[in-house]
Amino acid sequence: EKGGFDHFMLKEIHEQPKAYRDTMRGRISEDGKNVVLPELTTLTPETLKGINRVHIVACGTAMHAGLVGKTVIETLVRIPVETDVASEYRYRSPIITPETLVIVVSQSGETADTLAALREAQRCGAKVLAITNVVGSSVAREADDVIITLAGPEIAVASTKAYTSQLIAFYLFGLYWAQTTGSQTAEQIAHILAAMDSLPEQVERILSQADTIKTVAEDISKSSSLFFIGRGLDFAVALEGSLKLKEISYIHSEAYAAGELKHGTLALIEEGVPVIALLTQEDLYEKTLSNIKETKARGAHVLAIVNEGHEAEVAKSVDRQFAIPRTLQLLSPALSVVPLQLLSYYASLALGHDVDKPRNLAKSVTVE
Ligand code: F6R
Repeated sequence: EKGGFDHFMLKEIHEQPKAYRDTMRGRISEDGKNVVLPELTTLTPETLKGINRVHIVACGTAMHAGLVGKTVIETLVRIPVETDVASEYRYRSPIITPETLVIVVSQSGETADTLAALREAQRCGAKVLAITNVVGSSVAREADDVIITLAGPEIAVASTKAYTSQLIAFYLFGLYWAQTTGSQTAEQIAHILAAMDSLPEQVERILSQADTIKTVAEDISKSSSLFFIGRGLDFAVALEGSLKLKEISYIHSEAYAAGELKHGTLALIEEGVPVIALLTQEDLYEKTLSNIKETKARGAHVLAIVNEGHEAEVAKSVDRQFAIPRTLQLLSPALSVVPLQLLSYYASLALGHDVDKPRNLAKSVTVE
């Protein structure tokens, strides 16, 4: 049942290229130039034209996918997006109108807080789009429209392929919406779709270097605390990398926006503290590199996740690095999270924990 892998989590990490292909299949036109989402029956081009704000609501890892979704929609469609934790959303009197699109993201489709947020949004007259992995789940049944992620069943408690499939769903939906409003040119859309087409093979290349990450993970497993840093989408991925590590290895970590470190947190960076720095956003490269140097100057032991081609330049400022294949910076979370998933898997393994069933966690959280 684990297909030759020691754990479901490792199997599911390795299933990501297939999950990307399955989630994209049939949703991109034959010529590779357009997104087709016939499943959207409420969110017709006409309805989408009337939307003036978006709320993305989810829990945990799905919320982290929503943080990427925010940047995707704001970049491609130029409509303001807020991303919220579902257990906070309902209680802060969010401003929801019939012109609001609420996107709920849930692998299981049964998370109580997410379902409650969906109901509240509909009560206020908003349209709700669900991104879920389970056909026939409560969220799928109640939402106005559904984009199913085709990740296949996810057994390990720590979500991996469901998260990355949610990213693919956001890219497809963002591009689809941009097509209907004309906020991106046909050339730009075709360019992004071409880059998406390469993602599965690029993930395969990352997976083939899992042993490099295993070595780093064994070192990190000896630490009691560490930091993940990044800017922009790298920060969103840092949050996910930190959550993954905490939930299955029980090592404390914090994800920080790299530019925010100097507003207090640098005090915790001392000799030998591991820092995992994400450096994939080309527009923010210089700024993040200078934040990495700030940690290095205080004795941090830095692992950088970099784009191929930057290795020589980055080598002077970090202790170790892992290069990921080049893609568009909007798409890089779909690659950069993979080494972090492997890092948490191998750290948990090195510590002898139950990787697939971490303590105190359930796969589906049906209480608020
Ligand atoms: C972390 C994890 C959880 C879930 C969260 C939401 O690896 O799996 O944080 O992402 O409980 O679950 P769903 O997506 O089923 O609503």
